[in-house]
Amino acid sequence: MMTDILDPLVFWVYGAHINRRTLDKADRAGLVIEHVEARWNGMVQCIVAQPKGGRVTMSEHERAGTLQEQGKPSHREEGETKRVQRIYDRNASRYDTVIRIMERLLVGDGRAWACGQAHGDVLEIAIGTGRNLPFYPENVRVTGIDVSLAMLARARERAAALGRDADLRVGNAQALEFPNDRFDTVVCTLGLCTIPDDRQAIAEMKRVLRPGGTLLLLEHVRSPVLPVRLVQRLLAPLFLRCEGDHLLREPLTGVRAEGLAVERLERSKFGIMERLIARKAEGA
Ligand SMILES: C[S@@+](CC[C@H](N)C(=O)[O-])C[C@H]1O[C@@H](n2cnc3c(N)ncnc32)[C@H](O)[C@@H]1O
Repeated sequence: MMTDILDPLVFWVYGAHINRRTLDKADRAGLVIEHVEARWNGMVQCIVAQPKGGRVTMSEHERAGTLQEQGKPSHREEGETKRVQRIYDRNASRYDTVIRIMERLLVGDGRAWACGQAHGDVLEIAIGTGRNLPFYPENVRVTGIDVSLAMLARARERAAALGRDADLRVGNAQALEFPNDRFDTVVCTLGLCTIPDDRQAIAEMKRVLRPGGTLLLLEHVRSPVLPVRLVQRLLAPLFLRCEGDHLLREPLTGVRAEGLAVERLERSKFGIMERLIARKAEGA
């Protein structure tokens, strides 16, 4: 009852629901509930359930994406991916002009920072118009994917103008077509904010990274500074509707949930910009 009353306020400020009925959802999803343990007056639940493919253990605070753990995008996410693709197909011609302003205000030397640390076989997720291409060392082999063909067309033009031999193809970050352990480095800049299921995208990044490989992220994220976060929260619906852009994402949570070892984490610009280096464990 109390959590129902407080839920809208907590969701507005922190972006998290505190009254989700995970047990009902697990039941509706056809999972066989084996064990339920309630803690903290029933506010936190640990659930052990048995799906067709094997055992799932989840706790209320790990719920995001849990019921879609088999990696299949839901219909809602498929629809959202198409919507994002349409937005970027439509906006590709003005993307460089608009992003240049954001680069000046927020990104700084972030592209050089991320790409300068890439090595070996590199996969860039959501490569867009290829604005990172000038920053990669000459000796790396770049593969780039993006869901928008119009953005990719510009990336191809940029690669040609730079004389850079890059494999640029249409692809969905939530279901990569590459085999496991294929790349030495995975790079994503300003991409996770627009990918509908960012957790699934991070899981895919990990899958295609070879053990010991490096994940490099440069993202705008939910600020820990309350007044800034309140402004982000106010603007979030507008950005999501017009740009398919989530202002309140926290990639770090997904990176940790995937068991990647965070080696470096930097926040700047009132906590809005995040630079993150993580490594896939040897033998993972
Ligand atoms: C804000 S732009 C960033 C582009 C580029 N990474 C950069 O740093 O300028 C977001 C890009 O993510 C791409 N994108 C969104 N969802 C995607 C998905 N599911 N798979 C692949 N690319 C996606 C969009 O098409 C768009 O090019």
